[in-house]
Order: sequence, then C-alpha cells, then structure tokens
Amino acid sequence: MIKVEGLTKRYARNVAVNNISFEVEKGQIVGFLGPNGAGKTTTMRVLTCFLPPTDGRAEVAGFDVIEKPMEVKRRIGYLPETPPVYPEMEVVEYVEFVGRLKGVPKNELTRRVDEVCDRCNVGDVKTRLIGKLSKGYRQRVGLASAIIHNPDVLILDEPTAGLDPEQRKETLGLIKELAGEHTIILSTHILPEVEQTCEKVIIISRGKLVATDTMANLNSRLRGAELVSVEVEGRSGSLNRDSVQQRLEQIPGVSKVTYREARQDRLLFHVESMQGKTVRPDIARCIVQADWNLIELHTAGLSLEEIFLQLTSSDKPTGGAQ
Ligand SMILES: Nc1ncnc2c1ncn2[C@@H]1O[C@H](COP(=O)(O)OP(=O)(O)O)[C@@H](O)[C@H]1O
Ligand SMILES: [Mg+2]
Repeated sequence: MIKVEGLTKRYARNVAVNNISFEVEKGQIVGFLGPNGAGKTTTMRVLTCFLPPTDGRAEVAGFDVIEKPMEVKRRIGYLPETPPVYPEMEVVEYVEFVGRLKGVPKNELTRRVDEVCDRCNVGDVKTRLIGKLSKGYRQRVGLASAIIHNPDVLILDEPTAGLDPEQRKETLGLIKELAGEHTIILSTHILPEVEQTCEKVIIISRGKLVATDTMANLNSRLRGAELVSVEVEGRSGSLNRDSVQQRLEQIPGVSKVTYREARQDRLLFHVESMQGKTVRPDIARCIVQADWNLIELHTAGLSLEEIFLQLTSSDKPTGGAQ
C-alpha cells in the first residue's frame, strides 16, 4: 500500500531523510519510531505530497507522490504534528469543512460527519467550539477530519504528543480500532506506544533507517545482545547455504541466524547472540573447522537494544528542537 524507495530529502544544508526504503502492506498498522529530528515528519510530508523528495521515490496505493499527487491525496488522511483545527469553529462545522475540501459528496456529508464523530468519540461535543476542548478531544477531532473521506491510508504524526496518559491510551485505542479498515503509519518517539499498538515498526535515527521489523521479531531481537555479520566462502566450489546456516545455529549462545545474500561464491549471514554472549570467536572456529574460508566477521552495527538505548537517551527535550 505504501512503498518508499531510496527516499532522500535535503533542506538547504542538512539531510533530513537519507536514502530510506520501506514498505507497508494493506491494513497494517506501523509505528514510525525515532527521536526528535530523526526525519519522521519530513518523510510523512513527502508521503502526503506536501514536500517533494530530493531523491528516490514514494508511492501510495500504486500512485507516485510526484506524478499523481491528486490520486495520492484522495487516498490519504493526514493528521499533522499540530492539527490545523480552528479554535473559533464548532466541531461539526470544522469536520464538515474538511469533508467539503476532501470532496465528500454533499448529500452524504451530514451522515458522514455524524459517523466519523461517533467513531472518534467526539459525538457529545459536536456543537462545542474547538478552542474550548481539551487537547485529547481536539486530537480526536483531528482524527475524525482525517478519516472523513474514508481514505485507504492514515498518516498520523505524533498523534499522542502533549496528551496525558489517560488521553494517550484512549487515542491509541481508537487508532488501533481504525486499523484493518485503513492502513496506518503513526509516528512517535515513545517505544512502548509502538509495542502496544503496532504490528510492525520502522525505526529511523538522524535521517537513516536503522531497523524495520515486525513487533514479534523485534521483541525476540531485543533479547539478543550482539549482531554479527559473517561472510563465508567455500574452499572447493560452491557452498551449501543450509549447511552453513545449520552450523552457525548450533554454536552455543547463538539465538538467530539470518541468511542475507550471496556475493559471487560467498554467502553472507547475520548472526544474533543471546544476551551477554560473545560468539565471534566460536563463529570463527566453526567456519575454519568446517574447512570454509572466513572472509569477513564483524559486529554489524548496533543491536536493537543498543539502538533503543541510543534512541531513548537522545530523547531528552532539546531546547532547539521544535
Ligand atoms: N523546513 C525545514 N528546513 C530546514 N531543516 C528542516 C526543516 N524541517 C525539518 N528540518 C530538519 O530536518 C531534520 C528532520 O526533521 P523532522 O522531519 O521534523 O524530524 P522528526 O519529525 O523526526 O522530529 C531535523 O534536523 C530538522 O531540524
Ligand atoms: Mg516530527
């Protein structure tokens, strides 16, 4: 439903989004996780056709954001970081107004407004002025207006920012209910929110993609301590991928082995260790004993646990960030 390929967005001097790629399947609810300044809002603005990419491409429901922006916008409901709700308008007026902008047919508008207001639990404040509502209610009005034209895709930028814990829970519950009908990307810098709400997570940091995985895989990975990249070559001709994988899996302390790719006659694997285990010496020994050539063996960047530590430690309010 959403496809992003090599997306890069440069502002005058800095690169906000640096060559990221990911896909989101229909009906999925995906968490877009990263600290302040990671590039979440920028990516979402590209997806919603508010910003052109500097490089790479993005498509929504098969339509390119540059070539077919009208088609994309028709299929997207967007809740920006600061929803542009007008304080002097009544809830129902505002949602209707957005509905007209989004081209909801006139004869369906009233029914549709009632529907989305009920859906987003703002039915009881329909005639109240938006400016008089609590932040939680205002956010739900934003959600109601984002789904007024029944879009395939919902892009929600930090939908829980500034809410108290009770309101957060309510808003996330509502978003979860909307999944299935809609494909949803929601951004946040709070890991537990993703864990509670999403099936899949895309993590970015400083404009770069650091991980994309299902929540289930991520949880098991979180228990792993080290991610090691291993490149193996056969001494005499080609190598059997399964036999290398099995050997690696048998090493004590290894929790998971993933085949990555073949490079000529060489095979590349990622090996994850259990918490607190150092497996590199055993991997080297195993490869040599099997009479294969060990081409490369190194720690493949950070484990997810380290990534999360990094994410949360840079998650302090910084004066300059807006
Ligand atoms: N309009 C802009 N002009 C220049 N730099 C920008 C602009 N908007 C965002 N940035 C920069 O791009 C980076 C990513 O920002 P953003 O996408 O807002 O991150 P996030 O939403 O994850 O906090 C940051 O370094 C930010 O300062
Ligand atoms: Mg942002």
